[in-house]
Amino acid sequence: MRNFELEKFFSQWEFKAQYHMTASDLESWHLKDILEMDGHETALAGLENMWLGYTEVPGNPELRAAIAGTYDTLQAQNILCFCGANEGIYATMRGLLSKGDHVLAVVPNYQSSETVPLDICQVTGLRLHEDNAWRLDMDEVRAAIRPNTKMLIMNFPNNPTGALLPKEDLDALIGICRAHDLYLFSDEVFRLMELDESVRMPQIADIYEKGISLNVMSKAYGLPGLRVGWIATQDVALLETIENYKHYLSMCNSAPSEYLSLVALRNSEQILHRNRELVRSNLAQVDQLLLDYPHLFRWNRPQGSCIGFMRFLGDEGVEKFCQSLLLEHGVLFLPASIYKSELLTFETQNFRIGFGRGQVFQDGMAALRNALAQR
Ligand SMILES: Cc1ncc(COP(=O)(O)O)c(C=O)c1O
Repeated sequence: MRNFELEKFFSQWEFKAQYHMTASDLESWHLKDILEMDGHETALAGLENMWLGYTEVPGNPELRAAIAGTYDTLQAQNILCFCGANEGIYATMRGLLSKGDHVLAVVPNYQSSETVPLDICQVTGLRLHEDNAWRLDMDEVRAAIRPNTKMLIMNFPNNPTGALLPKEDLDALIGICRAHDLYLFSDEVFRLMELDESVRMPQIADIYEKGISLNVMSKAYGLPGLRVGWIATQDVALLETIENYKHYLSMCNSAPSEYLSLVALRNSEQILHRNRELVRSNLAQVDQLLLDYPHLFRWNRPQGSCIGFMRFLGDEGVEKFCQSLLLEHGVLFLPASIYKSELLTFETQNFRIGFGRGQVFQDGMAALRNALAQR
């Protein structure tokens, strides 16, 4: 398969760079924090007495019911758990697509949503237009459809831009999918981080009969180490097809992770409240940076998630800028080259900044400002 450039880059730098300023997840919690939310003694006893056998392949029934409760219309049977969201992408694409198929994928996107389908079938990119607030062009979507198009893959709030799909575009997209009988695979892992709740998108599995929603404990909940993700759809038979791939991959989730995910979902308001406050205050600092350096940075302000794709305007170009920040100042950003797509020429001077972390974000901002002052 093609290299997973983004994850390769992270495995090289994520734990080496001093200031991780490009994280797409919220500040992670400690085990103790999660146990305390549920009453420490009781929650701890639950962990200590846990039976460490194999777990149920689709996921713990109680966990699936709790996840279903995060949707408007779904039941436990509509949920299939995975080891993270990434496994959900892999299993869904392998389970549903075959050689003669064609799919449409939004660009830019999380890389495996492009590379896994590319390993299987024909893929056409749908550009998010930076000069139009990262919106899709619906005429381009319509024009890209072929007789063998089977699925449209989207990710909103988007990685790396933090853009959302406005309601009229979402309605139009569902109309197109319905007219052409397409699956709509919707990566919704950044949902719930929107600062303005009125723009929050509905979950596709609730509103479209061929919609497949992807989500995870990693991002808005700040619990990536649990490795619990899921897909949700109205079509229960479809889940059986996709589950077939799970047998070849993780097979089942880890029992302690399922248990802790349940505790976290029971206390989701507390978790999400802290995380939204973190995004709100960190984003204000990024706003100030843009005001202080208008000759260096510009962006379409992200509407959801804790990441944005900022344009670098300096003469040296974004790759050199990111490289020197990393090697000379320990500040880690993801430069545009990591988002290179095989589907579209995507020559940008952008980099991904993350603003969901706690102390490391404060320290990283100070290091960044120090580096900029030395220019
Ligand atoms: C948009 C998107 N989808 C899926 C994933 C994979 O999530 P996980 O690490 O929980 O498997 C990521 C991770 O960064 C992501 O940004």
